[in-house]
Amino acid sequence: MESERLRLREFTPADLDLLVELDSDPEVMRFLTGKATPRGEIADVVLPGMLRVYGEHPGLGTFAAEEKSGGAFVGWFGLQPTADPGTVDVGYRLNRAAWGKGYATEGTRMLIDYAFGELQVERVVADTMAVNHRSRAVMRRSGLRFARLWHEHFEDPLPGTEFGEVEYAIDRRTWEAGRRA
Ligand SMILES: CC(C)(COP(=O)(O)OP(=O)(O)OC[C@H]1O[C@@H](n2cnc3c(N)ncnc32)[C@H](O)[C@@H]1OP(=O)(O)O)[C@@H](O)C(=O)NCCC(=O)NCCS
Repeated sequence: MESERLRLREFTPADLDLLVELDSDPEVMRFLTGKATPRGEIADVVLPGMLRVYGEHPGLGTFAAEEKSGGAFVGWFGLQPTADPGTVDVGYRLNRAAWGKGYATEGTRMLIDYAFGELQVERVVADTMAVNHRSRAVMRRSGLRFARLWHEHFEDPLPGTEFGEVEYAIDRRTWEAGRRA
Protein backbone atom coordinates (compact mmCIF):
# COMPACT_ATOMS: atom_id res chain seq x y z
CA MET A 1 0.00 0.00 0.00
CA GLU A 2 1.30 3.44 -0.91
CA SER A 3 0.55 7.08 -0.25
CA GLU A 4 2.33 10.12 -1.62
CA ARG A 5 5.48 9.65 0.48
CA LEU A 6 5.05 6.35 2.34
CA ARG A 7 4.97 2.66 1.54
CA LEU A 8 3.46 0.11 3.92
CA ARG A 9 4.49 -3.55 4.04
CA GLU A 10 3.99 -6.49 6.37
CA PHE A 11 6.60 -7.04 9.07
CA THR A 12 8.78 -10.16 8.91
CA PRO A 13 10.92 -11.87 11.60
CA ALA A 14 13.92 -9.99 10.10
CA ASP A 15 12.48 -6.69 11.37
CA LEU A 16 13.21 -7.37 15.04
CA ASP A 17 15.96 -4.72 15.27
CA LEU A 18 13.75 -2.02 13.73
CA LEU A 19 11.02 -2.64 16.31
CA VAL A 20 13.50 -2.79 19.20
CA GLU A 21 15.00 0.54 18.17
CA LEU A 22 11.58 2.18 17.75
CA ASP A 23 10.42 1.07 21.20
CA SER A 24 13.72 2.05 22.82
CA ASP A 25 12.96 5.79 22.70
CA PRO A 26 11.25 6.89 25.94
CA GLU A 27 9.64 9.85 24.11
CA VAL A 28 8.01 7.46 21.63
CA MET A 29 6.82 5.28 24.53
CA ARG A 30 5.79 8.17 26.78
CA PHE A 31 2.02 7.66 26.45
CA LEU A 32 2.19 3.89 25.90
CA THR A 33 4.19 2.24 28.65
CA GLY A 34 6.50 5.07 29.65
CA LYS A 35 9.60 2.94 29.06
CA ALA A 36 11.50 1.00 26.43
CA THR A 37 10.09 -2.41 25.52
CA PRO A 38 12.65 -5.16 26.33
CA ARG A 39 14.12 -6.89 23.27
CA GLY A 40 13.00 -10.28 24.55
CA GLU A 41 9.40 -9.12 24.82
CA ILE A 42 9.45 -7.85 21.23
CA ALA A 43 11.05 -11.08 20.00
CA ASP A 44 8.78 -13.44 21.98
CA VAL A 45 5.48 -11.57 22.20
CA VAL A 46 5.14 -8.37 20.13
CA LEU A 47 6.50 -9.50 16.75
CA PRO A 48 4.94 -13.01 16.81
CA GLY A 49 1.63 -11.34 17.72
CA MET A 50 1.91 -9.03 14.72
CA LEU A 51 2.70 -11.93 12.36
CA ARG A 52 -0.25 -13.93 13.71
CA VAL A 53 -2.76 -11.17 12.92
CA TYR A 54 -1.87 -11.26 9.19
CA GLY A 55 -3.00 -14.88 9.04
CA GLU A 56 -6.00 -14.62 11.33
CA HIS A 57 -7.42 -11.34 9.97
CA PRO A 58 -6.55 -10.88 6.28
CA GLY A 59 -6.08 -7.20 5.44
CA LEU A 60 -5.55 -6.21 9.07
CA GLY A 61 -2.44 -5.96 11.19
CA THR A 62 0.55 -3.77 11.94
CA PHE A 63 2.47 -2.58 8.88
CA ALA A 64 6.00 -1.25 8.60
CA ALA A 65 6.13 2.21 7.05
CA GLU A 66 9.03 3.25 4.82
CA GLU A 67 9.81 6.44 2.98
CA LYS A 68 9.26 5.87 -0.73
CA SER A 69 12.30 7.99 -1.47
CA GLY A 70 15.25 6.19 0.07
CA GLY A 71 13.37 3.43 1.91
CA ALA A 72 14.08 4.58 5.49
CA PHE A 73 11.95 2.87 8.16
CA VAL A 74 9.79 5.52 9.86
CA GLY A 75 7.67 3.35 12.17
CA TRP A 76 4.39 1.54 11.85
CA PHE A 77 0.68 1.95 11.19
CA GLY A 78 -1.90 -0.60 12.23
CA LEU A 79 -5.48 -1.64 11.68
CA GLN A 80 -6.64 -4.01 14.40
CA PRO A 81 -9.86 -5.98 14.75
CA THR A 82 -12.22 -5.02 17.57
CA ALA A 83 -15.05 -6.84 19.36
CA ASP A 84 -17.41 -5.43 16.70
CA PRO A 85 -16.74 -7.09 13.30
CA GLY A 86 -17.74 -3.87 11.45
CA THR A 87 -15.26 -1.73 13.38
CA VAL A 88 -11.46 -1.56 13.12
CA ASP A 89 -9.01 0.33 15.30
CA VAL A 90 -6.30 2.46 13.65
CA GLY A 91 -2.98 3.20 15.38
CA TYR A 92 0.53 4.45 14.65
CA ARG A 93 3.98 4.72 16.17
CA LEU A 94 6.72 6.69 14.41
CA ASN A 95 10.34 7.19 15.34
CA ARG A 96 11.13 10.70 16.48
CA ALA A 97 13.08 11.60 13.35
CA ALA A 98 9.84 11.11 11.41
CA TRP A 99 7.69 13.45 13.55
CA GLY A 100 6.70 16.88 12.29
CA LYS A 101 6.47 15.90 8.60
CA GLY A 102 2.81 14.97 8.33
CA TYR A 103 3.64 11.28 7.92
CA ALA A 104 1.32 10.13 10.72
CA THR A 105 -1.67 11.90 9.19
CA GLU A 106 -0.77 10.71 5.69
CA GLY A 107 -0.49 7.07 6.80
CA THR A 108 -3.62 7.18 8.94
CA ARG A 109 -5.68 8.62 6.09
CA MET A 110 -4.37 5.88 3.81
CA LEU A 111 -5.47 3.16 6.26
CA ILE A 112 -8.88 4.77 6.83
CA ASP A 113 -9.47 4.90 3.05
CA TYR A 114 -8.34 1.28 2.80
CA ALA A 115 -10.61 0.19 5.67
CA PHE A 116 -13.74 1.74 4.17
CA GLY A 117 -12.84 1.29 0.50
CA GLU A 118 -11.34 -2.21 0.47
CA LEU A 119 -12.26 -3.89 3.73
CA GLN A 120 -15.81 -2.48 3.66
CA VAL A 121 -15.90 -1.72 7.39
CA GLU A 122 -18.61 0.52 8.87
CA ARG A 123 -16.55 2.37 11.46
CA VAL A 124 -12.92 3.21 12.22
CA VAL A 125 -11.90 4.16 15.76
CA ALA A 126 -8.68 5.28 17.42
CA ASP A 127 -7.82 5.74 21.07
CA THR A 128 -5.10 7.29 23.16
CA MET A 129 -4.47 8.97 26.50
CA ALA A 130 -6.33 12.30 26.75
CA VAL A 131 -3.01 14.05 27.33
CA ASN A 132 -1.43 12.68 24.09
CA HIS A 133 -2.14 15.87 22.16
CA ARG A 134 0.05 15.01 19.18
CA SER A 135 -1.87 11.79 18.66
CA ARG A 136 -5.24 13.54 19.07
CA ALA A 137 -4.18 16.08 16.44
CA VAL A 138 -3.36 13.23 14.03
CA MET A 139 -6.83 11.77 14.64
CA ARG A 140 -8.53 15.12 13.95
CA ARG A 141 -6.47 15.80 10.83
CA SER A 142 -7.30 12.31 9.57
CA GLY A 143 -11.04 12.98 9.78
CA LEU A 144 -11.77 11.14 13.02
CA ARG A 145 -13.92 12.98 15.55
CA PHE A 146 -13.97 12.86 19.36
CA ALA A 147 -16.38 10.14 20.49
CA ARG A 148 -15.88 9.54 24.22
CA LEU A 149 -13.67 9.88 27.27
CA TRP A 150 -13.38 7.22 29.95
CA HIS A 151 -11.24 6.36 32.92
CA GLU A 152 -9.32 3.15 33.42
CA HIS A 153 -7.64 1.78 36.50
CA PHE A 154 -3.96 0.87 36.11
CA GLU A 155 -1.77 -0.64 38.83
CA ASP A 156 1.15 1.53 37.73
CA PRO A 157 -0.45 4.53 35.98
CA LEU A 158 1.47 6.81 33.62
CA PRO A 159 1.55 10.53 34.36
CA GLY A 160 -1.64 12.02 32.91
CA THR A 161 -3.74 8.87 33.37
CA GLU A 162 -5.98 10.89 35.70
CA PHE A 163 -7.22 12.84 32.63
CA GLY A 164 -8.53 9.62 31.09
CA GLU A 165 -8.50 7.88 27.74
CA VAL A 166 -10.17 9.21 24.59
CA GLU A 167 -11.70 7.57 21.56
CA TYR A 168 -12.08 9.20 18.16
CA ALA A 169 -14.18 7.70 15.37
CA ILE A 170 -15.44 8.06 11.83
CA ASP A 171 -18.35 6.15 10.28
CA ARG A 172 -18.82 5.12 6.66
CA ARG A 173 -21.39 7.81 5.88
CA THR A 174 -19.09 10.59 7.10
CA TRP A 175 -16.14 9.13 5.19
CA GLU A 176 -18.20 8.95 1.99
CA ALA A 177 -19.43 12.54 2.44
CA GLY A 178 -15.80 13.68 2.88
CA ARG A 179 -14.82 12.03 -0.39
CA ARG A 180 -17.64 13.72 -2.30
CA ALA A 181 -16.74 17.16 -0.88
C1 LIG B 1 1.58 10.50 17.51
C2 LIG B 1 2.63 10.77 16.45
C3 LIG B 1 2.55 9.72 15.36
C4 LIG B 1 2.35 12.17 15.87
O1 LIG B 1 3.35 12.54 14.96
P1 LIG B 1 3.34 14.03 14.34
O2 LIG B 1 4.59 14.18 13.59
O3 LIG B 1 3.01 15.01 15.39
O4 LIG B 1 2.08 14.00 13.34
P2 LIG B 1 2.07 14.20 11.77
O5 LIG B 1 2.96 13.19 11.13
O6 LIG B 1 0.66 14.23 11.32
O7 LIG B 1 2.78 15.59 11.54
C5 LIG B 1 2.14 16.80 11.86
C6 LIG B 1 3.16 17.89 11.98
O8 LIG B 1 3.98 17.90 10.80
C7 LIG B 1 3.94 19.23 10.21
N1 LIG B 1 4.20 19.06 8.77
C8 LIG B 1 5.39 19.32 8.17
N2 LIG B 1 5.34 19.01 6.87
C9 LIG B 1 4.09 18.55 6.62
C10 LIG B 1 3.44 18.10 5.45
N3 LIG B 1 4.07 18.03 4.27
N4 LIG B 1 2.15 17.69 5.54
C11 LIG B 1 1.51 17.75 6.71
N5 LIG B 1 2.09 18.18 7.87
C12 LIG B 1 3.38 18.58 7.82
C13 LIG B 1 2.60 19.75 10.61
O9 LIG B 1 2.55 21.16 10.54
C14 LIG B 1 2.52 19.27 12.05
O10 LIG B 1 3.37 20.06 12.86
P3 LIG B 1 2.96 20.51 14.37
O11 LIG B 1 2.94 19.26 15.19
O12 LIG B 1 4.05 21.44 14.74
O13 LIG B 1 1.61 21.12 14.26
C15 LIG B 1 4.04 10.72 17.04
O14 LIG B 1 4.14 11.72 18.00
C16 LIG B 1 4.35 9.38 17.67
O15 LIG B 1 4.71 8.41 16.99
N6 LIG B 1 4.25 9.28 19.02
C17 LIG B 1 4.59 8.08 19.75
C18 LIG B 1 3.59 6.98 19.61
C19 LIG B 1 2.21 7.39 20.04
O16 LIG B 1 2.02 8.10 21.01
N7 LIG B 1 1.24 6.89 19.28
C20 LIG B 1 -0.15 7.13 19.55
C21 LIG B 1 -0.57 6.29 20.68
S1 LIG B 1 -2.24 5.85 20.54
